[in-house]
Amino acid sequence: MAKPIVDIKEPKGKLGVLLPGMGAVATTFVAGVESIRRDLAKPFGSLTQMGTIRLGKRTDNRSPLIKDFVPLADLADLEFGGWDIYEDNCYDAAVNAGVLRKENLDPIKDFLGTIRPMSAVFDTRYVKKLDGPNKKKGSNWYELAEQVKSDMESFKRDNDIDRLVMIWCGSTEVYTTPKPVHETIKAFEEGLKKNDPSIAPSMVYAYAAISSGIPYANGAPNLTADIPALVELAREMHVPICGKDFKTGQTLMKTIISPGLKARLLGLNGWFSTNILGNRDGEVLDDPESFKTKEMSKLSVLDTILQPQLYPDLYGDFYHKVRINYYPPRGDNKEGWDNIDIFGWLGYPMQIKIDFLCRDSILAAPIVLDLALFLDFAKRADLSGIQEWLSFYFKSPQCAPELYPEHDLFIQLMKLKNYLRHIMGEELITHLGYEYYE
Ligand SMILES: NC(=O)c1ccc[n+]([C@@H]2O[C@H](COP(=O)([O-])OP(=O)(O)OC[C@H]3O[C@@H](n4cnc5c(N)ncnc54)[C@H](O)[C@@H]3O)[C@@H](O)[C@H]2O)c1
Repeated sequence: MAKPIVDIKEPKGKLGVLLPGMGAVATTFVAGVESIRRDLAKPFGSLTQMGTIRLGKRTDNRSPLIKDFVPLADLADLEFGGWDIYEDNCYDAAVNAGVLRKENLDPIKDFLGTIRPMSAVFDTRYVKKLDGPNKKKGSNWYELAEQVKSDMESFKRDNDIDRLVMIWCGSTEVYTTPKPVHETIKAFEEGLKKNDPSIAPSMVYAYAAISSGIPYANGAPNLTADIPALVELAREMHVPICGKDFKTGQTLMKTIISPGLKARLLGLNGWFSTNILGNRDGEVLDDPESFKTKEMSKLSVLDTILQPQLYPDLYGDFYHKVRINYYPPRGDNKEGWDNIDIFGWLGYPMQIKIDFLCRDSILAAPIVLDLALFLDFAKRADLSGIQEWLSFYFKSPQCAPELYPEHDLFIQLMKLKNYLRHIMGEELITHLGYEYYE
């Protein structure tokens, strides 16, 4: 048995999963975990629960489940809490989100009904299409961050919880770029006290978590913890962080298809992506400023995978467009169309059409579960700062400023598994394979 390269504390006691934003994704996640715990469902889509990892040579026949290889918290030990501007409990919010059918929700109504959102840190300047009654009051951001911290402490105490993680499942905030107030911890803390308008509500939650030593993941494309001040704070406080924007739906498809095109040196003239969706997320994204945040996140993927600077003849001049249209009748069941104009031998054009009738929150929920478990694992292994090995889960993976993010799903998966092998003291798998032929 290999020995881990670091001390990893055992996942003893309960793990509290804190969710700022208890809408479609968060409630689908919580309902799914409870259904799995009651043996009413299987954890489809979750790498931590269903994925295996090969160890050693192909001839060794060692491919344990990931959850049997790394010490992850057991689903039985998860507790859920969170914040929202609406007062609906988790059952009502799930019914309202319209993702899961009544026949799936009713058997766990007793459980979901007990989870009530705490009052939110919210500002309509950052999410223009929504407003609700369940909001905190305070004279500045710093005071509000203190209130979030005290919420977390009470949640931990009242539920006899050992450890916490926070995963942002709140709405997409308006597009912002880093400002001087985001540069250092000192500037940021002063900004909190002075109510700096460049600090977003999501940053207040992230600050409250990181400064309390709680791992943080960002499921939306907002800047949030992707600023030097919070990255530095995460390192100082030994807190693992990751983001941004869960990789589901159309972008998931993009990062599956485009590495294949590049692998076979097929050129790209254009990629037109359009979506219709009718959930609350779609309504928020109907605001051009929130859409801009999402658009930037979705657009960056192709450039980094296709590397036009290395392949100017193939990818030097492609047209890339992403549209999202709010269309209420469709609810959470998004439809995403992609028209891809490619070219091959002698420049002959070809087309690929994708029509993905997907369910956004069904794709996102297992990501929330995996991130909660992996971040808790990272914290117990004392890994701190940006966890690039978790890029697999994100549209805009957070990475060191001098690097470009890795978007290719297959490289991301290889990286994640090799990272686990590395931490657990197992040999890395390079796929060289020469030893079988010696
Ligand atoms: N569903 C997916 O596949 C997917 C993929 C990638 C990213 N995301 C992102 O995940 C987030 C959640 O998506 P969703 O479909 O659950 O949306 P949703 O609108 O159903 O839920 C978001 C919830 O966040 C709440 N909220 C907004 N600001 C808040 C704040 N400051 N504090 C507390 N609560 C707040 C809203 O009231 C709402 O209930 C969105 O930002 C979305 O863009 C979703």
